[in-house]
Amino acid sequence: MRELFSDAELNGPKPYNPHVCGTKGTESKSQAESMQQIIYQTENFVKTTLHTDSTGHDFYHAFRVRDGALNIAKTEPGDKVVIELAALLHDISDYKFNGGDERKGGRVARAFLTDAGLDEYRVDRVVEVVNTVSFRGAHAESSHLVSEAKIVQDADRLDALGAIGIARCFAFGGHRGHPIYDPMVPVKMHSSFEEYKNHEGTSVNHFYEKLLLLKMRMNTPTGQAMAEKRHHFMQQFLDRFHTEWKGLV
Ligand SMILES: [Fe+2]
Repeated sequence: MRELFSDAELNGPKPYNPHVCGTKGTESKSQAESMQQIIYQTENFVKTTLHTDSTGHDFYHAFRVRDGALNIAKTEPGDKVVIELAALLHDISDYKFNGGDERKGGRVARAFLTDAGLDEYRVDRVVEVVNTVSFRGAHAESSHLVSEAKIVQDADRLDALGAIGIARCFAFGGHRGHPIYDPMVPVKMHSSFEEYKNHEGTSVNHFYEKLLLLKMRMNTPTGQAMAEKRHHFMQQFLDRFHTEWKGLV
């Protein structure tokens, strides 16, 4: 469990200045405690909402993204409260599982955080992050990202890479009824978000259509360095997969 936020982490959000975190703040200990309370409430909300997920988007995914985002945030500008809350809530209602509503996650996050008593500025900022972090297709135009979204997006993408990324890929593919692999199904490099989200391929193709592209699309130096290692592990896995497929080992 995290310790209470320091004054520096809670430095006043208006007007927004991404370099302000790490300087002497003015919020009181009771404000820090109430912010910590909102974090606890958010953890519980995410846990309750996502505890039955078996697609790799369960609450442990949200918690890993939170931990990864806070790690990246040690060397990047951004409001750490916004980063933590947005990371926890980023998949609270994913369009892939809610009938295709790309904005529902943001609406759910806004309703929850407003009810929890978070200030309006941070609510808006969290909603902005939740609405913009998703992958949109190999050749599709990316969203403009605020500084906190760059960090959360990197942490989310890291959880799609490496050993955990491999496990999540096959869990999601199974949930969607996709074959593990079919050599007759070609890899598709999607040119729009519509094309990407409606595509039904194979789990192994998903590596080439998305996962192996992510290391080139990281926003931060820390994310980039971690993505390189996880990418390498996935490449080794795929080489082995294709060799076993041919019965050669
Ligand atoms: Fe995610």
